[in-house]
Amino acid sequence: MQMAIFRSRTWLSRAFSSLPSNLLRVCVVGSGPAGFYTAEKMLKAHPKAEVDILDRLPTPFGLVRSGVAPDHPETKIVINQFTRVAKNDRCMFLGNVNLGLSVSLKELRDLYHVVVLAYGAESDRVLGVPGEDLEGIHSAREFVWWYNGHPDCRNLAPDLQTTDTAVILGQGNVALDVARILLRSTAELATTDIASHALGALEKSSIRKVYLVGRRGPVQAACTAKELREILGIKDLYINIQDVDLQKSPMDEEEMRTSRIQKRVYELLSKAATSSPVSPTTGQRELHFVFFRKPDRFLESEKRNGKVAAVHFEKTTLKVDSGRQVAVGTGEYEDIESGLVLKSIGYKSIPVDGLPFDQHRGVVPNSRGRVLQTTSGDLLLLEEGLYVCGWLKRGPTGIVATNLYCAEETVVSIMEDLTQGPLVSTSTLSKPGREGLLELLDNRKVTVFPFSTWEKIDAEEKQQGSLKHKPREKLSSWQELLKVGSE
Ligand SMILES: NC(=O)c1ccc[n+]([C@@H]2O[C@H](COP(=O)([O-])OP(=O)(O)OC[C@H]3O[C@@H](n4cnc5c(N)ncnc54)[C@H](OP(=O)(O)O)[C@@H]3O)[C@@H](O)[C@H]2O)c1
Repeated sequence: MQMAIFRSRTWLSRAFSSLPSNLLRVCVVGSGPAGFYTAEKMLKAHPKAEVDILDRLPTPFGLVRSGVAPDHPETKIVINQFTRVAKNDRCMFLGNVNLGLSVSLKELRDLYHVVVLAYGAESDRVLGVPGEDLEGIHSAREFVWWYNGHPDCRNLAPDLQTTDTAVILGQGNVALDVARILLRSTAELATTDIASHALGALEKSSIRKVYLVGRRGPVQAACTAKELREILGIKDLYINIQDVDLQKSPMDEEEMRTSRIQKRVYELLSKAATSSPVSPTTGQRELHFVFFRKPDRFLESEKRNGKVAAVHFEKTTLKVDSGRQVAVGTGEYEDIESGLVLKSIGYKSIPVDGLPFDQHRGVVPNSRGRVLQTTSGDLLLLEEGLYVCGWLKRGPTGIVATNLYCAEETVVSIMEDLTQGPLVSTSTLSKPGREGLLELLDNRKVTVFPFSTWEKIDAEEKQQGSLKHKPREKLSSWQELLKVGSE
């Protein structure tokens, strides 16, 4: 969403710095972990670098604010480090600036010596099976954004009322986050920073049964041991895993020998299967791990047009393909009835105009963060001054800290290009940088949210949260956020 309110020029002129003109003008697009780590490393690596961090949201921190589960506060502590970066004299956060809408990539490249795209993956992989658009089916990303108070999903309204069963497709850590939020006691969630609209809906939720469905086996489950242990440890939760799914093939044994994580995940699932009672007690919440099932199509409710009623699965078996075990259909089918389906099969990045993009891999073709013109891998065909970091660079995998190494690599590439590569001569030319961008945005009547506005939002959220014994109550609608910004 683009906001076009006229702001007084006073703030704009204050924002113009009196820094010398031989600056290296760097623009980072995206203020999640990849963006902030890149900014931090760039500021350290180059004493004359002035780094502007843009975000399409009025608020900073990307996935740390909108992706990390509310019951994982320890993962959000990194916000303190990012705040120190944003407050560095040579850094500026510019929220509510949307690449592609407020400013084009070409304009940014003309304004800055270096542009680093770190805007992540804000879309979803699709299954491409019939019925995927039925009501009651959402991507896990949308559900996560909903409970985390992302303004784009404030009105998602997932059906937690007319069904007692949710099916989650995929068995990665996002699937586990989503399952945990559906199954955990709301009294525990109430003391987290979960959005109040989500907490209210979860308090009234009729969901009792959650199916976590994987197309491969327990050895290939994509989650990690810590996250699995956490969900298996939810109080008074009935866990169901079919013994037959736990049988291992020699290839599974081989995978477990080479991956400690897979071995540990398998062991935890086996232990849960043997230690769980045969059936749930009355009213007990249930978590069913279902393996070797791939979604074939979604079935529509006979009672309500356009609404999902079940997932039709094809049973699978594993076959080795290019050294990897992949799921292949067996021709046998099975339905799981459910009025709520969350597809947790991975995030997807979206390209902007003028950006080379590998549609197949869903990433920007790059060599150690340097954007390449084509997917051919030809290192000579460089997009000069353009770099990537984070999920846009390597795909939607890894934890927050993975971006630290990813940013390190991109910044090393930038520094090499500045000292002995294509930026040696161009970086000596003066560029308009921040001043030029602010002028352009002002002309377009784009309301820029500087870090000081985020600090106002932050204070407001903490104040509202303290009244409810929560760390914060997120402002989760565009109206609320923009109101603080225009005060
Ligand atoms: N607490 C944490 O540390 C935390 C929390 C959340 C996310 N993360 C990280 O964030 C990254 C993204 O997580 P994620 O869960 O979105 O992705 P992920 O780990 O890649 O898991 C994706 C899941 O979707 C399945 N899948 C993909 N395509 C499918 C299809 N066409 N049909 C059926 N199933 C399909 C995959 O199965 P196959 O294996 O068969 O492809 C896998 O189970 C991961 O690196 C994750 O560890 C970490």
